[in-house]
Amino acid sequence: MKIGTALSSSATKALLLGSGELGKEVAISLQRYGVEVIAVDRYPDAPAHQVAHSSHVIDMTDADAVKKLISDVKPDFIIPEIEAIATPALAEIEAEGLCTVVPNAKAVQLTMNREGIRTLAAETLGIPTSAYAFATSFEELKAAVDNGIGYPCFIKPTMSSSGKGQSMVNVAGDLEKAWEVAKQGGRAATGKVIVEAKIDFDFEITLLTVRALNSKGQVETYFCESIGHRQEDGDYRESWQPQAMSEKAIEKAQEIAKKVTDEIGGLGLFGVELFINQDNVWFSEVSPRPHDTGMVTMATQRQSEFDLHARAILGLPVSTAMQTAGASAVILGGIDSKAVIYKGLDEALAVPETEIRLFGKPEAFKSRRMGVALSVADNTNEARANAVKAASLIEILN
Ligand SMILES: Nc1ncnc2c1ncn2[C@@H]1O[C@H](COP(=O)(O)OP(=O)(O)O)[C@@H](O)[C@H]1O
Ligand SMILES: [Mg+2]
Repeated sequence: MKIGTALSSSATKALLLGSGELGKEVAISLQRYGVEVIAVDRYPDAPAHQVAHSSHVIDMTDADAVKKLISDVKPDFIIPEIEAIATPALAEIEAEGLCTVVPNAKAVQLTMNREGIRTLAAETLGIPTSAYAFATSFEELKAAVDNGIGYPCFIKPTMSSSGKGQSMVNVAGDLEKAWEVAKQGGRAATGKVIVEAKIDFDFEITLLTVRALNSKGQVETYFCESIGHRQEDGDYRESWQPQAMSEKAIEKAQEIAKKVTDEIGGLGLFGVELFINQDNVWFSEVSPRPHDTGMVTMATQRQSEFDLHARAILGLPVSTAMQTAGASAVILGGIDSKAVIYKGLDEALAVPETEIRLFGKPEAFKSRRMGVALSVADNTNEARANAVKAASLIEILN
């Protein structure tokens, strides 16, 4: 494995498509190995822009803009951090064979649309998922629910993330509202929703799964300890590692994650979302990149999910070993405001075994993730309590 010198003619370059808090950490991990990082987002001064060698602001759903930037930068690796990207442009670039799309263009294409990945998992691979159907009109949606999906159910735009446009419906009278919410909340106007029967899970996990080269130069699959998490309004609020679960459930979870990531292929880290009830495991979705709930690994693992992604991409060896139990708690904006001021960092950092990461987003929104508290402890209960406490001590002021 060879690497060049950043900012020189020999540079090994990574183009980050998406420069949020996850991209920021990927940028830092790559830079530690000397990679030149070029960070892209739709708005200036995004978190990863602030730590990258150079940055660009483009509309990443515009195929021409994406292709033009790639031909100017000539990256060795294109690393998508978000789903809203002109994926056909990536497929074209990949076909030219001049650079690697991480993990590959197919993965990015499949996972940006819930229909692609759900159909692959449930129908092609035969993996257990919630009962589901797709609908392009309210009538179709109603028929799907009446003819088997039932209540409660989840309605989601096929193209959306972080809970946007998503709602849970308990009674028939609320279905039309959910249809409207989904139609408006989608990222792209596919006009299509997925309706899923509610899985009555004991807990849900993210199983971080890494496809990396082993010492023989072969692709091997590695798993991190499971990460438990708590979601509110379709977005994560707390995560912890490890999540206690039965041996059987762990085995099934790993088997599902391996099947899905084998099918996707490429090198990198994946966040496989699974629902667990006793020994039963259902696949929910997968991110072909670091996962927000996986931020906890910045505290619990020597190689965080970001380091693992960087190492896997570069063809370097990985270790998914966990050092200690830990937890993360999200710091939300709480207000809509620009140039906010953070108060209480001193108090938050006085919480034992705790770190705070502030992402540096130029603008706060009420439910925008602005930072995260990370705590380690002897057990996840103590770590969760400390992370939640530390997060609550950060006050965001106008
Ligand atoms: N079929 C389902 N059964 C139970 N809970 C669900 C179901 N679908 C979604 N959820 C809940 O909503 C959260 C967000 O849904 P998800 O499909 O992961 O959307 P996103 O892509 O926005 O993360 C899940 O983590 C889970 O807590
Ligand atoms: Mg999810």
